[in-house]
Amino acid sequence: MTTKFMILHGPNLNMLGKREPAIYGGQTLEDVNTSLMELAAELGCKLSIFQSNSEGALIDFIQSSAGECQGILINPAAFTHTSIAIRDALSAVGLPVVEVHLSNIHRRESFRHISMVAPVAIGQICGFGGDSYLLGLRALFNNVKNSLN
Ligand code: DQA
Repeated sequence: MTTKFMILHGPNLNMLGKREPAIYGGQTLEDVNTSLMELAAELGCKLSIFQSNSEGALIDFIQSSAGECQGILINPAAFTHTSIAIRDALSAVGLPVVEVHLSNIHRRESFRHISMVAPVAIGQICGFGGDSYLLGLRALFNNVKNSLN
């Protein structure tokens, strides 16, 4: 069976490229997704990619991952700092989770230093722009591969 991962992008990430490029870079979400799909082809895994500005839609998608995917790569965006509901959904499905951020949330405003998701994730990668996603996918892939061995 081919390994499949869910890629989740939270609110406002649909505006990448136009949104505060000094912080988030010039890549669009489509650019990020294209480089993720290229990496997935190299690794030999499949991706199911979803973006929403709505907390409930993200939770529904996370719940749908049970039995469908072997891991979740998520940039919860602003919901990182507020959403106990997304954290609970991730915890409920029990799949390995890697949290990623384009910016280094720890060198920004103090309200961004807190992540509701980090305690239910294997790890967090932030500060590398679009590369955070690629590093995160590699980390998730290796984690799942090693746990299957
Ligand atoms: C972000 C960081 C969050 O604090 C912010 O609300 C975002 C994007 C990032 O990728 O750097 O929307 O998750």
